[in-house]
Amino acid sequence: MPLPRKVPLAQLPTPLHRLDRMSDRLELDLWIKRDDLTGFAGGGNKGRKLEYLMADALDKGAQAVVSCGTTQSNFVRQLGAACAVFGLKCAAATMALPYDTQAGRPHAAALLSSGGNVLLDEMLGVDLRIYADGDWDELYSHAERLAQEYETNGLKVYRIPIGGSSPLSAYAFYEAGAEVRAQAEPFEWIVFGSSSGSTHTGLTYSFHGKPTRVLGISSDPEPDILEEFAEAGKGLAAILGIAPLTAADFSMNFDYVGPGYAAPSEEGARAIEALARTEAIFLDPVYSGKAFAGLMDLAARREIGGRVLFWHTGGLPSLFAMTPTRVGELSAGIR
Ligand SMILES: Cc1ncc(COP(=O)(O)O)c(C=O)c1O
Repeated sequence: MPLPRKVPLAQLPTPLHRLDRMSDRLELDLWIKRDDLTGFAGGGNKGRKLEYLMADALDKGAQAVVSCGTTQSNFVRQLGAACAVFGLKCAAATMALPYDTQAGRPHAAALLSSGGNVLLDEMLGVDLRIYADGDWDELYSHAERLAQEYETNGLKVYRIPIGGSSPLSAYAFYEAGAEVRAQAEPFEWIVFGSSSGSTHTGLTYSFHGKPTRVLGISSDPEPDILEEFAEAGKGLAAILGIAPLTAADFSMNFDYVGPGYAAPSEEGARAIEALARTEAIFLDPVYSGKAFAGLMDLAARREIGGRVLFWHTGGLPSLFAMTPTRVGELSAGIR
């Protein structure tokens, strides 16, 4: 199989540097990979994925791209930006707090459905449809109906799964692993926020058989998610021409989800403040803040240690949709 084609969108390689003050505080040799600085439409891990996804959409003659996510989705914002650059229409079906089942529905404050990424989506001309909260299958049905609406209007539609996760996106992160190996001496751990899975899948494949341990901190309370990642990873294995990995080859920690997917947590808010006040770097309330809360706690428990790379996956705009914003108010307000 020929290797996938990409179009340039992100400024790569992204910077990688040491966090001196946070290293002292956590008694780690802590480094950060700055995918918040991909230099594309507010930054974030989706810039890498979109280089491959947009090449595929253009090769297939797409006129419109349809996807889905949370209303404050970082992916939808970057997808809207990529569509603007290539003159394609972008539409997205969204919910403020999608959930797995009624039992898994977060009892917490959602991010605002205005401002933050939504403001940027409006500027980019995204057709953003906001539906009442429901489960993931309902969200996917809304997205399919939206795609059919565009097809009925005569446009050729390219459908992108939630978070942009597909074998092509996983390939983007397989490559990103090689980017890190070219930038620095090997790390003992790589830690990052994991959700739809292509960041996790690409990095797991990239470091498989190497001494670096790849640890996702989940933003979703769905323990069987690794089975889904392994299944989706078969597409990456096919691109690479290698045997697929199994769910047992992936490492995920589910202890820092907090009140639920897309719902800010108190520990996450504390972690956001801690990194801002030691290193002047901003995390986001849904993914990277919770992931950094996990990193801090696991370091305190001595469950990770030594030379650690935190992969900053971006998400800054959603900080501006967070209410309440202060840690104290958050702990009082979300229950
Ligand atoms: C800021 C941020 N971090 C992490 C993730 C998770 O990445 P992935 O969907 O590849 O698991 C996302 C995805 O939505 C994100 O927006």
